[in-house]
Amino acid sequence: MTTQLGWLAEALGDSPTLKLSSQAKAMIQAGEPVINLTAGEPDFATPEPVLAAARAALADGRIGYTASAGLPELRATVAQYYSDAGGPTVAAGEVIVSNGAKQVLFNALAVLINPGDKVAIPVPYWVTYPAQVTALRGEVLAVTPTAGWKITPADLERAGARAARVLILNSPSNPTGAVYDQDELAALADWCRTCDVYVLTDEIYEDLVYTDAGHTSLVQIAPDLRHRIVRVTGLSKSYAMTGWRVGVGLAEPETINAMTRLQDHSTSNICTVAQKAALAAFACRAEVLAMREAFHRRRDVLVDQLRGTPGIRFDVPDGAFYLMVDCRDLLAPDRRHDGCWRLARHLLAEAKLATIPGAPFGAPGCLRLSFARSESELVEAAQRLRASLRSFPG
Ligand SMILES: Cc1ncc(COP(=O)(O)O)c(C=O)c1O
Repeated sequence: MTTQLGWLAEALGDSPTLKLSSQAKAMIQAGEPVINLTAGEPDFATPEPVLAAARAALADGRIGYTASAGLPELRATVAQYYSDAGGPTVAAGEVIVSNGAKQVLFNALAVLINPGDKVAIPVPYWVTYPAQVTALRGEVLAVTPTAGWKITPADLERAGARAARVLILNSPSNPTGAVYDQDELAALADWCRTCDVYVLTDEIYEDLVYTDAGHTSLVQIAPDLRHRIVRVTGLSKSYAMTGWRVGVGLAEPETINAMTRLQDHSTSNICTVAQKAALAAFACRAEVLAMREAFHRRRDVLVDQLRGTPGIRFDVPDGAFYLMVDCRDLLAPDRRHDGCWRLARHLLAEAKLATIPGAPFGAPGCLRLSFARSESELVEAAQRLRASLRSFPG
C-alpha cells in the first residue's frame, strides 16, 4: 500500500529565511563571532510585572481551559485599552485572543475567503502572508508600490485589487519598517469605500513607531469601514513577549464569532498562564516606552553608520526594528535574480554577519537588517558590512 500526503504538504515549502538564520545560530553555537541581524524579536526580557503575574497563576495552580476566545477579563481589558486609544469603541465581544498575531491572521483569512478568492498583498510582504493565503486555497495578488515601500490607491488599481476579497495592510511593516501616515491611510480608506474589500490591518509593531505622529490604525481614520476591518495585533513585539503567544484580533462580533468557532475546533484557548500574564502587560506602558526609546536609538545608530556607504540605498524606517537595504547597484545585472542570496551568504562567510535576503519578502536585491541588537553590536555590524561589501564580487 502506498501513502501520499495531501497537496498542502507540497504547497508549503521550507522557510528560506529560517535556513540562513539557523545557519547563523549554528555558527554562534560553534563559537564563531557572528553578529546576528536576522532577529524578528526584541532582545529584551519580558517586563517583570508580566512575569510576576505568570508566577502567581502558577502558584494558584488552577490552570484549566478558558473560553476559546480568551478569558472574559482579558477580552474586556483589551477592549478597554483599544477604546481608550481612540477610534471606535471596542466591546469585549469584538476581541479574540489567539496564539500570536499569526493565528489571528490565519483565523481571519480562513473565515473571510473562499477558495480561489484573491488576497491583495503589498510588496514587500511578511513571508507568512502568501503562505497562509496559499494554505487556504486563496490566490495572492501582489501590489507593488510605484515609489518607495508604501502602496497608494493608484497602485491598488493598477494591480487589479478591486477584484480582491481581502487587502492585507501591515503598518509598521516587516520587512521595511515603513509606517503609513494619516493622509496615506485616508487615501486608502477612500479607495476601500469604492469597493467591497475586507482589510486585515496587521499592527503587531504598533508601539514601535519613531515619528512624532506615532501609529494610526486604519479603523481610527475610517470608523465607517469597521465592519470590513479586522485589526490584528498582540503583545509579541511591543512587550517583548514573542514566546508567550498572545495575539489579539479586533473586529465586528460576527467575524470574531466565526474566528472563535474555528479556534474552538483547532487550538482552543491559548495557554491560560499566558493569558493571566497578559492581563498584567497592559499596565506596562512605561516598559513599552523604554523599549521603544531603545529601538529608536538603535535605528539612529544603524542608519548613521550606514549612511553614505557606496552601493547601497535605504529609506529610514519609521517603525518596527528592520532596515531594508537596497543593494541592487552592487549586483551584476545578469546575476540579479539570486543576488541578495549570494550577498547574504558572502556577508555570513566573510564578515560573520547574518542578514536576511529580500527575495523571500518579494524584494530581490535587498537585505533585511534587524536592529533588535545592542548599539555596540550595530556599530560593529555596520563596519563589517561596509568592509565586506568591498570584496563582494557582484
Ligand atoms: C508583520 C508581522 N505580523 C505578525 C507577526 C506574528 O506575530 P506573533 O509572534 O504574535 O504571531 C510577525 C512576526 O514576525 C510579523 O512580523
